[in-house]
Amino acid sequence: MLTEKKILVGVTGGIAAYKAAEVVRCLRKLNAQVHVAMTKSATEFITPLTLQSLSSNPVYCDLFDEPKLWNVEHIALAEHVDAVIIAPATANILAKMAMGLADDFLSTVLLATRAPIFVAPAMNHAMYHHPATQVNLALLKERGIQVIGPDTGFQACGTNGDGRMSEPVEIAESLVRFFTGSDWLKGKKALVTAGGTQEPLDPVRYLGNRSSGLMGYAIAEALQEAGAETFLVSAPTDLPTPYGVTRISVRTALEMHDAVLRLFPEMNVVVKAAAVADYRPLVEAVQKIKKTGTSLTLELVPNPDILAELGQKKTSQLLIGFAAETENLMANAQHKMKQKNVNLLVANDITKPGAGFGSPTNIVSFLFPDGRKIDLPQMSKLEVARHLTREIAKLLGVETKE
Ligand code: PMT
Repeated sequence: MLTEKKILVGVTGGIAAYKAAEVVRCLRKLNAQVHVAMTKSATEFITPLTLQSLSSNPVYCDLFDEPKLWNVEHIALAEHVDAVIIAPATANILAKMAMGLADDFLSTVLLATRAPIFVAPAMNHAMYHHPATQVNLALLKERGIQVIGPDTGFQACGTNGDGRMSEPVEIAESLVRFFTGSDWLKGKKALVTAGGTQEPLDPVRYLGNRSSGLMGYAIAEALQEAGAETFLVSAPTDLPTPYGVTRISVRTALEMHDAVLRLFPEMNVVVKAAAVADYRPLVEAVQKIKKTGTSLTLELVPNPDILAELGQKKTSQLLIGFAAETENLMANAQHKMKQKNVNLLVANDITKPGAGFGSPTNIVSFLFPDGRKIDLPQMSKLEVARHLTREIAKLLGVETKE
């Protein structure tokens, strides 16, 4: 699947460096030509000889080494490769990439190359969640660098959490997807809604919900990856906009309603992953509501049901809805599918561990009006999004090479 592709695997110094051997092996099995560049600290974890043997190519470690081949020094290598994957990518290399530092062979190639760059972060979960690392990752994503993982689980430091490097097979699959499957939805326009709307009570408070936006943002990323021109109507979140996606920021259900209805006529696909407030306060107080020591009654009025309105207005558009349920998942989801006239409904039981609000993973079922049902096991929200994108492509009658 990667025949004739020249891939540079960059290995940096973390305990997951041993998994780089498997990354190289997977890429070679897919017929890629693999070059390897290691930082000095990576060589403390795994020997260049191992990676040289697996890649069948000389390994680059030092900027000032004798050239291995006359035409593949750092600039030539940067120009020569079709993609670069840094696996594992430490917090340090991410920071250097974000700053544009070039003080060794690998970081110099990263600055010089115009090939697509993938990073598979691997680090202790506290380092991963440090604001500096998160800001660096967000910046790199904005520049078009594709971030694979990290996974959640047991870490070498003895703790459990986010920061494990994604499995080598998953990393290789990301490259395959990039090179082979990226244009199913080329020429199509897709609209995704994400996040939880906020309904203001007064200048400091609002009624909200626990949606992080992760699910909707992953769907926008997967649709964009599949070649669709993608628009993301987003309620407030801290998430970076997926590369290439046009984001329209909104706050309330009414603002989301207006933005979605404005874009709707020109869309081929609409995915409503947002958690929209069903009610809003009748009045937004001009000043901060003062506490009085007695009970407070708020009058709420219904918001428009955006998805149901789209279901009535749709002409050729494919309409995908979500159902977030805490009980009777299937019965409630079936009811929503009919009531909102959608072409596919994604049902998630938000009470299950590993599913729903704020979780990096989800557990969903796809329901279709013809009675078909696809149950997916727990997987990352991006994987769910990619499965959904494949179903969308099929519903649009597009060949998905599967
Ligand atoms: O954002 P995350 O933290 O990743 O969490 C993901 C998620 C749990 C929010 C997501 O997977 C999900 O289930 N989204 C839908 C949440 C929701 O509002 O479900 P609902 O069953 O209340 O609404 C059904 C459908 O109608 C949804 O597609 C919703 O976008 C839409 N709706 C609801 C109310 C309304 N006024 N207008 C709408 O369009």
